[in-house]
Amino acid sequence: MKPPRMIQIAHDDPAAIRRELLAGLMAPRAGIAPKFLYDALGSRLFAAITELPEYYPTRTEAAIFTREMASMADVLGPVRTLVDLGAGNCEKAARLFEAFGVKRYVAVDISVDYLRESLGNLQRLHPGMAMLGVGLDFSSDLRLPAEVGEGPRTLFHPGSSIGNFTPDEALALLRQARAASQGGSLLIGVDLVKPPEVLESAYDDALGVTAAFNRNLLLHFNRLAATDFAIADWRHVAFFNAEASRIEMHLEAVRDARVRWNGGERHFAAGERIHTENSYKWRVDDFAALLERAGFAQPRYWTDDASWFAVFAVFA
Ligand code: AVI
Repeated sequence: MKPPRMIQIAHDDPAAIRRELLAGLMAPRAGIAPKFLYDALGSRLFAAITELPEYYPTRTEAAIFTREMASMADVLGPVRTLVDLGAGNCEKAARLFEAFGVKRYVAVDISVDYLRESLGNLQRLHPGMAMLGVGLDFSSDLRLPAEVGEGPRTLFHPGSSIGNFTPDEALALLRQARAASQGGSLLIGVDLVKPPEVLESAYDDALGVTAAFNRNLLLHFNRLAATDFAIADWRHVAFFNAEASRIEMHLEAVRDARVRWNGGERHFAAGERIHTENSYKWRVDDFAALLERAGFAQPRYWTDDASWFAVFAVFA
């Protein structure tokens, strides 16, 4: 059996990535985009986070899918083409194939290298299904290649990855998702507002896995920008910013620290921070309104009993 076709849409070149990283480092309030959390080790650490007792989103969303699968299938109707945005190991989408009657599966992730093995395995399990892997940074441009085929598509964006975008960025992404669905639909998972202590322990677990995930960003940064961050100089900080309704992750200098690179350096005083991630927590009504502002109609949603997480279905 032939392995699924893989298409890589051009990446930024290494010089542009280095410029972007150093510009963020030099900004008065230093920041690093969260997409850089996911090098090979960062992706494994994230997978470990999803198994932590404190990190409720993954298992809560999975339980909603298990309980509500038939109802979701009913609302969406037959799904010919399922486009999985941020597919990774493709496991979440694969659970939907049967109930949704999927005929064609398109796995999208930042690099086809993340998809090759999992999509190949999935193709062996579903030899009759058309499958395509697309390497695309959809957070900056969600135009799908022609190989996806014409006609309505159901876009699938689970895991509350939308929470890692500001509301304005999320709106822009949802508008692009609507266009990319070609008159189809969107199924999207969103993490909801809940008591701050639950949120804060989910992002600062007792084992320190989230801390390792955050601090590993500096190892990745050193490789991409040829800097000399000393990991021991930095500690993980995560807190709920109630006004902005988001968890913020930062790296905080535990002592005066200096970062050097060819052509520059930056000094950080003890206590100074680098902002590394936001994870917005939505209220159901606000997220439904955001979907409608993006042009989607007929929002339906399903939650768990505690209303900690919601899965929305909408139509273009
Ligand atoms: C991928 N994303 C939805 C995760 C989140 O919960 O915002 C990333 C993460 N950051 C720390 N823990 C998990």
